Amino acid sequence: MKVLVVGNGGREHALAWKLAQSPIIKNVYVATGNAGTYREPKVENVAIDPLQFEQLTDFVKTQHIDFTVVGPEAPLVAGIVDYFTSKDLLCLGPTAVNAQLEGSKVFSKAFMQRHGIPTARSQVFTDPEAGKQYLAKCTYPLVIKADGLASGKGVVIATDESMAKQTIDEILSQKRFGEAGNQIIIEDFIKGEEVSFIVLCDGEHYIPFPTSQDHKARDDGDKGPNTGGMGAYSPAPLVNEQLHAKILSEVIEPTLKGLALEGNPFKGFLYAGLMISPNQDIHVLEYNCRFGDPETQPILMRLQSDFAQMCLDALHGKLSLYTPQWDPQFAIGVVLAANGYPDRPQLGDVCPTLNDIPANDFYKVFHAGTKIEEGKITISGGRVLCVCALGDTLLDAKTKAYRLVKKVAWDSVFYRNDIGDKALK
Ligand code: GLY
Repeated sequence: MKVLVVGNGGREHALAWKLAQSPIIKNVYVATGNAGTYREPKVENVAIDPLQFEQLTDFVKTQHIDFTVVGPEAPLVAGIVDYFTSKDLLCLGPTAVNAQLEGSKVFSKAFMQRHGIPTARSQVFTDPEAGKQYLAKCTYPLVIKADGLASGKGVVIATDESMAKQTIDEILSQKRFGEAGNQIIIEDFIKGEEVSFIVLCDGEHYIPFPTSQDHKARDDGDKGPNTGGMGAYSPAPLVNEQLHAKILSEVIEPTLKGLALEGNPFKGFLYAGLMISPNQDIHVLEYNCRFGDPETQPILMRLQSDFAQMCLDALHGKLSLYTPQWDPQFAIGVVLAANGYPDRPQLGDVCPTLNDIPANDFYKVFHAGTKIEEGKITISGGRVLCVCALGDTLLDAKTKAYRLVKKVAWDSVFYRNDIGDKALK
């Protein structure tokens, strides 16, 4: 079989790598891929932008590709699955209607409220003055979110009224996020720890992936601006059996049931970003309509079953027949970013070729913002690599991953030194 992966980040490298391991897969194509997918056995990069649906479907037809797996949110929100379906092509991901769970925070908040899914108290504003007046009723910190997609930067934790007012102006008046900021949500801040809970759905059944946590803040100690994610690990020790069952019954099942009841059964990866309070109360912070990045990388390090079969079963509504096997070891991924990430990443530097990194079952270096130029690997995006390792304990995995980080790091690299520490504490 042949499969197309849409996207070019670390998540897509991990998806392509795992799909290529399947005995039923002969070729994996990645549009557009990166230097990591370029070098992966059985994998070939294709120079088609993920938002060029017509070019993608033409390619799928001419190459007789059996199915497509979509990584990032932008093509999903723009309706890639609907487009492929209209051409009778199999494409794993939610429809544009369901992708609004990520594409519009106002939509997802209203959905949660309709279906009694636990989430923080909030109000929607389009008028900056009305938003500022509402602040008089609020306590700090306070969360202000742009409605639409903003590359992980659309959520601001305001620590006082002046910061909240400034954020409202930046989003609604100065259009810092363009049209994605036509509406904002002002939301109560919930204390606790964030957990990523990801499931694969076939429209009726679902498979929960192992639990994971990422580190969204740029700097050690979870300080500094938010990023797409600086590292992740799986499993998340915080999610014990009882909490796992509670997440399924309070969040995942009502979400899937609610969508189905509204006539929109969900197919694809659904990611609930959850805040777990010290007393184990759960609040949904946001939904993503895709696999997490960098969570995908450590999670797929632990998958021992055939991922291609899993995706096919999801596409054909047969996930109830599928029981994946997971490596009981811990997996961790440390993101190596370009200097200046997230605001002004320094692009164009040459990355190490990594030829001396031994390929084995315990380590993997996934690429994200890299490309091949004149035979060299150069930096083309803020998050450059995700160095992953497996270990018997989280500490063991962390120690192994950082040992490899030291080997692959280049002069201007930036990374956090404490990935996994919040769970180790
Ligand atoms: N790791 C956060 C995300 O994928 O959105």
